[in-house]
Amino acid sequence: MAASLFPLPFLFLFVFLLHPLSSTANIHKTNNLLKSHLFTEPTSINTTHTTHKPLNDTPPTVFFEVTKPINVPKTKPCKHLVLQHDFASTYGKPPVLLNYTPPSHCPSQDFSKIVLEWKATCKGRQFDRIFGVWLGGVELLRSCTAEPRATGIAWTVRKDITRYYSLLVKNETQEFAVYMGNIVDTTYTGIYHVTVSIYFYPAEKKLRHSDHGFNNLVSGRDSKADLILPISRNLPLNDGLWFEIQNSTDSEAKEFKIPQNVYRAVLEVYVSFHENDEFWYGNYPNEYIIANNLTGYPGNGPFREVVINLDGEIVGAVWPFTVVFTGGINPLLWRPISGIGSFDLPSYDIEITPFLGNILDGKTHKLGFTVTNALNVWYIDANLHLWLDHRSTNTEGKLLKHESKPLAFALVSNFKGLNGKFLTSARRLISSNGWVKSSHGNITTHFNQHLGYSNLMEMGKDGDLQIVNQTINFTDTVSFRKPSSNTKSFKSLKNFKFYMYSDYMDQGNGTSLSVANVTLGFNEKNVKHAGLGFVSNILRNLQNGQGVMVVKNNLVQSGEGSTQQEYTYNGSGLCYFRNISSSNYSILYDKVVNACSDRDYSHLGFGLSRYFHFPASGSSLASELLNKYHDGV
Ligand SMILES: *[C@@H]1O[C@H](CO)[C@@H](O)[C@H](O)[C@H]1NC(C)=O
Ligand SMILES: *[C@@H]1O[C@H](CO)[C@@H](O)[C@H](O)[C@H]1NC(C)=O
Ligand SMILES: *[C@@H]1O[C@H](CO)[C@@H](O)[C@H](O)[C@H]1NC(C)=O
Ligand SMILES: *[C@@H]1O[C@H](CO)[C@@H](O)[C@H](O)[C@H]1NC(C)=O
Ligand SMILES: *[C@@H]1O[C@H](CO)[C@@H](O)[C@H](O)[C@H]1NC(C)=O
Ligand SMILES: *[C@@H]1O[C@H](CO)[C@@H](O)[C@H](O)[C@H]1NC(C)=O
Ligand SMILES: *[C@@H]1O[C@H](CO)[C@@H](O)[C@H](O)[C@H]1NC(C)=O
Ligand SMILES: *[C@@H]1O[C@H](CO)[C@@H](O)[C@H](O)[C@H]1NC(C)=O
Ligand SMILES: *[C@@H]1O[C@H](CO)[C@@H](O)[C@H](O)[C@H]1NC(C)=O
Ligand SMILES: *[C@@H]1O[C@H](CO)[C@@H](O)[C@H](O)[C@H]1NC(C)=O
Ligand SMILES: *[C@@H]1O[C@H](CO)[C@@H](O)[C@H](O)[C@H]1NC(C)=O
Ligand SMILES: *[C@@H]1O[C@H](CO)[C@@H](O)[C@H](O)[C@H]1NC(C)=O
Repeated sequence: MAASLFPLPFLFLFVFLLHPLSSTANIHKTNNLLKSHLFTEPTSINTTHTTHKPLNDTPPTVFFEVTKPINVPKTKPCKHLVLQHDFASTYGKPPVLLNYTPPSHCPSQDFSKIVLEWKATCKGRQFDRIFGVWLGGVELLRSCTAEPRATGIAWTVRKDITRYYSLLVKNETQEFAVYMGNIVDTTYTGIYHVTVSIYFYPAEKKLRHSDHGFNNLVSGRDSKADLILPISRNLPLNDGLWFEIQNSTDSEAKEFKIPQNVYRAVLEVYVSFHENDEFWYGNYPNEYIIANNLTGYPGNGPFREVVINLDGEIVGAVWPFTVVFTGGINPLLWRPISGIGSFDLPSYDIEITPFLGNILDGKTHKLGFTVTNALNVWYIDANLHLWLDHRSTNTEGKLLKHESKPLAFALVSNFKGLNGKFLTSARRLISSNGWVKSSHGNITTHFNQHLGYSNLMEMGKDGDLQIVNQTINFTDTVSFRKPSSNTKSFKSLKNFKFYMYSDYMDQGNGTSLSVANVTLGFNEKNVKHAGLGFVSNILRNLQNGQGVMVVKNNLVQSGEGSTQQEYTYNGSGLCYFRNISSSNYSILYDKVVNACSDRDYSHLGFGLSRYFHFPASGSSLASELLNKYHDGV
C-alpha cells in the first residue's frame, strides 16, 4: 500500500536536498514547492538540557483559518464529547475507533444545527499531517494539522455538520473513526493532543418536517438527506478510510445498494493530494523532464482531475481547489493564518439523481474514482446522500440523456534547456438528464458540469525560478422540472486561483535562500432560482503571502512569512467580512465586520427581504416559497 511507503519519499527528498542529483542540471536543488518537508524548528532545541528559560513560560501560538462563523441558533447546545486522544506513533496503524451513540441527555431531540469541534495542541517539531474523521464510514471532516513550534501551538476547527443530521441522530451504535498518520521519534517530537466534541443546538421552534419533496430539491447543502451511505473503505483497516489512488490508471471503487424509494441522490466527494502530487499544480511537464534528463522530479504536468464513475459511466468530475497544507511552499507563510481550506478541506457535490433510474433496482452498483495524470498519492472517498420517499416503497426513474465528452486538453510548450514557458489548458462538459417519479410527482432533473482550467508555468534562471499562474472555473447547474410547476434550479459557480513566484538561490556555502510569493483565491457564488425569485450567496476569499527563508540541511535557519487575507461572505442570514494580515507570527491588522447592510444586499434578491426588512419586491407567496429553502438559519 502507498501508505506504508509514505515516509520514504520524505527521506528521499531529504537526500535529494542534500545531494543534487545532477551536477549538469543546476535546476532547483529542491523543487521549491517541496519545502513542506523542511523543519522550521531548530534541531538544537533540547528540552532536557536547555539553558534558555523553560519553554513552558511561553503561551502557545494560536493558529487559525479565516472563515465565516457558523450561524447557530440562540438555544443552548448539548455538548457531546466524542473523543480525547494523543496522536503519537499512529502512522500506518488502524484509525482510533470508538462507539458513537447520539447524546441522550438533550432535553430536545429536534436540532437545527450540529457543529463538530476539533481542538488540538502540539509542541516540538512535527510535519503537517493529514487526518480524517468518519462516522459509520461517512467522512465528516478532512483536515491537516498545524505545524508545531517548540513553544507549543493550539488550534480549533469548527465545522457545520448539520448536513449529516440523519447519521448523527441515528438511534444505534455506530463506529466513529479518526485517522492521523503521525510519527514520533527523537527528530519528530510533536504529539498531537486532540479533543473532538459535537454540539447539538436544539431548534428555536419546532421544525417543520413537511418541507420534503419538490421544494427541498433546490436547497443544496441546506437540505438534509434521509440516509447517507459511505463510499469509503470498510473497517477494520490500517490508515484512513479513504481510497488511495496511486497513478493515472489506478481506479478505486465501492459497491453499494440503495433503498428502492430514493427520489434524490447527491455524491459528496472528499479529496486530498500528497507526496508526489501534493503540489500537482507546479509539477513539470514530462517533455521538460525528459529533455533535461531530470530524475526525481514529480511530473505529468500541472493538470489533475478526479473523475467519478457509476457502473463505469462518467457521472461527474472534480477539479479541486489547490489547498496548500500548513507546511507547504514556505511553512512560515501559514503561521498563524493557515492556508485557505487547509483546516477544513472543501468537499464537492455531484448530482446523481438523473441516474437513479439505473440504480433503483435493488441490486448492487459501483461508484469508482480515477485521477487524470495522477502520481502517488490521492486520498479520495465520498458520501452518498439519499432522500427517501416516505409515502412509497418504490420510486421509479429513467436516465434520458447522458453526455460526457472527452476531456479537451492542450499543452503549448516553448522551452530551451531549463528555461521556458508552458501553457496548459483544459475543458470538460458533463451533463445528464433523467426523471424520477415519486409521491412528489414526476420530476426531471438536469445536471450540468462546465469546467475550465488554465495554467501558465514559467521556468527561469536555469530552473531556479518557477512562476505558476493557474485558474479553475467550476460551474455546476442542477435544475428540477415538474409538469405544471415552475422549474427550480441551483447553480454553483466556483473560481479557484493559484499564483506562485518561487525563486531559489544557492548561497554556495551549503545554505540556500528561497523567496516565494503565493496567491490563493477561492471564490464561489451560489444562485437558487425557484420559479418566482432567487436567492444567492457570494464568497470571495483571497490570500496573499510573501515568504523568505534561509535553508540549511532541511532546516529553516531564518526567515519571515507575511500573509494578507480578505474574506467576504454575503448570503442569506449572514454577512461576514474580515481583512487580516500577519507577519512573523504576529497579527498586524485585523478588521471584522459581522453585519449585513440593507443597501448592499438589495441585489441579492427579494428572497432575502425576510432578513433585511426592505419591502419585498415580489409576491408574498414567492417569499414564502423561498423561505422554505432555508431550514433553521
Ligand atoms: C541535548 O543536549 C545534550 C547536552 O547538552 C546533548 O548531549 C544532546 O546531544 C542534545 N540532543 C540533541 C538532540 O540535540
Ligand atoms: C432508541 O432505541 C431504543 C431501543 O432500540 C429505544 O428503547 C429508545 O426509546 C430509542 N430512543 C429514541 C430516542 O428513539
Ligand atoms: C498503478 O497503480 C496500481 C495500484 O497500485 C498498480 O497496480 C499499477 O501497477 C500501477 N500502474 C502503473 C503503470 O504504475
Ligand atoms: C541527456 O542525456 C543524453 C544521453 O545521455 C545526452 O545525449 C544529452 O546531452 C543529455 N541532455 C542534457 C540536457 O543533459
Ligand atoms: C415522467 O416524465 C418524463 C418526461 O416528461 C416522461 O418521459 C416519463 O414517461 C414520465 N414517467 C412517468 C412514469 O409518467
Ligand atoms: C473563467 O471564467 C472567466 C469568466 O467567465 C473567463 O474570463 C475565463 O477565461 C475562464 N477561465 C478558464 C480557465 O476557463
Ligand atoms: C494570471 O493570469 C491571469 C490571466 O489568466 C492574469 O489576469 C493575471 O494578471 C495573472 N496574474 C499574475 C499575478 O500575473
Ligand atoms: C552563506 O552565504 C550567504 C551569502 O553570501 C551569507 O549571507 C551567509 O551568512 C552564509 N552562511 C553561512 C552559514 O556561512
Ligand atoms: C513578492 O512580494 C514582495 C512583497 O510584497 C514584493 O516586494 C515583490 O515584488 C514580490 N515579487 C513578485 C515577483 O511578485
Ligand atoms: C458584500 O457586501 C458588502 C457590504 O456589506 C459589499 O460592500 C460587498 O461589495 C459585497 N461583496 C460581494 C462580493 O458581493
Ligand atoms: C484590507 O486592509 C488593507 C490594509 O489596511 C487595505 O490596504 C485593504 O484595502 C483592505 N481591503 C479591503 C477590501 O478593505
Ligand atoms: C520575528 O520575531 C522574532 C521574535 O518572535 C524576532 O526575534 C525576529 O527578529 C523577528 N524577525 C523579523 C525578520 O522581524
